Amino acid sequence: MEQTFIMIKPDGVQRGLVGEIIGRFEKKGFNLKGLKLISVDRSFAEKHYADLSAKPFFNGLVEYIISGPVVAMIWEGKNVVTTGRKIIGATNPAESAPGTIRGDFAIDIGRNVIHGSDSVESARKEIALWFPECPVNWQSSLHPWIYE
Ligand code: RTP
Ligand code: MG
Repeated sequence: MEQTFIMIKPDGVQRGLVGEIIGRFEKKGFNLKGLKLISVDRSFAEKHYADLSAKPFFNGLVEYIISGPVVAMIWEGKNVVTTGRKIIGATNPAESAPGTIRGDFAIDIGRNVIHGSDSVESARKEIALWFPECPVNWQSSLHPWIYE
């Protein structure tokens, strides 16, 4: 089953949005396969966003991610990478549709509350980076009520 890496950024944690965000993924029917509150250092944040290292906003982005604890999660389910990005909404909250996490809870692109992997390959790399320990292996007993 497909997995994605979702991270509630420091603003989402500070603003008390952790429960709301987890609830949205849970209620959709996705399964939580990893969860931790963690503060990361500069070199770790730079590794996570390495693909963006040439962007003018890179330093600000790294400062943002290391400004407080984040909630790192693995979510699992059919098409969870693409659907997870839809639940999150467009990168710039000015363009995120109402009903999405960024559309409902964010205003500025540099305080957009949450990260989600942009492809199955990125998800694989990000899960390996953030969860070097072996994630818990469990299956939801609701599976037949969510999948036909
Ligand atoms: P993320 O990786 O955090 O899920 O966001 P994303 O895929 O929607 O967007 P991405 O292009 O990967 O950008 C990563 C994060 O960098 C910040 N950003 N700032 N000032 C800017 O123009 C700008 N562009 C991007 C955002 O926090 C974005 O989520
Ligand atoms: Mg991205």
